[in-house]
Amino acid sequence: MYKTLIYEKKDDIGILTVNRPDKLNAISNELTSELSSLLDELEKDDKLRVLIITGSGDKAFVAGADIQELVDRDARMGRRVSRERQEIFSRIENLPVPVIAAVNGYALGGGLELALACNVRVCTEKAQFGAPEVKLGIIPGDGGTQRLPRLVGLGRAMEMILTGDFIDAQEAYRIGLVNKVVPPEELMNAAMELAQKIASRPPLAVRYAKEAVNRSQEGDKASGFALESYLHALTCTTEDKKEGVAAFLEKRKGKFKGK
Ligand code: COA
Repeated sequence: MYKTLIYEKKDDIGILTVNRPDKLNAISNELTSELSSLLDELEKDDKLRVLIITGSGDKAFVAGADIQELVDRDARMGRRVSRERQEIFSRIENLPVPVIAAVNGYALGGGLELALACNVRVCTEKAQFGAPEVKLGIIPGDGGTQRLPRLVGLGRAMEMILTGDFIDAQEAYRIGLVNKVVPPEELMNAAMELAQKIASRPPLAVRYAKEAVNRSQEGDKASGFALESYLHALTCTTEDKKEGVAAFLEKRKGKFKGK
């Protein structure tokens, strides 16, 4: 049982709701530690196919780090908290299954960084995105300075991080920060639809595809190509590959086992 998170499963799709609505789901130390424990569980769940992350209430996805806890954060604590959260967000990014952020409102600071650690983002028309850390006299510490430019380009990331200004859902869509914008009442359906589509694909192919695409953001292209070809070769050994190819040639729908 978690105090700051709600985790439920609908068939093979997990839904994680960040649950501190009275603080706009701000990330506290307690929340970080609960998230780490939940990830221990999720990393071992072989039945899980896709994870959706959203925020509680209709106002915020996550409005950043808990600013109350920033009061006592000195350099030593800043380094520790930043490394801890970078690691946790990287575990989300590299979870064996795809992770979809369903952004239901403000995604600010650490909330933007959490959304960036997810593999795909959908949001409501009311969502707003921003990196307001600089206004508090600090800089992002949970991976934002590295993930944001990779996703939206250097210039746009610089502008967001240097000004701290928020952008709305349409602008986020325009610059490629989110994949889809929907009315608020349709958000979870849209996230679910995407999750179910991915969950219907051969699980091992999905897993290795995610790993190969994630690698494109790190290191050089030659080692990315090498990893891609090894993972491609690995998928060629699976029963699902035999089934997928046969199903296409026999003009029928494939039945996949994750083997
Ligand atoms: N940390 C702690 N508490 C937060 C918070 C945060 N990051 N963001 C919001 N809250 C709290 C507010 O203090 C308020 O609590 P209270 O009711 O006990 O006073 C409650 O959540 C509601 O927020 P409020 O500011 O009243 O809502 P609003 O609609 O006027 O403004 C925001 C919404 C998101 C624009 C505004 O809350 C905000 O700017 N939050 C901080 C964002 C930020 O700088 N994040 C980066 C931190 S590194």
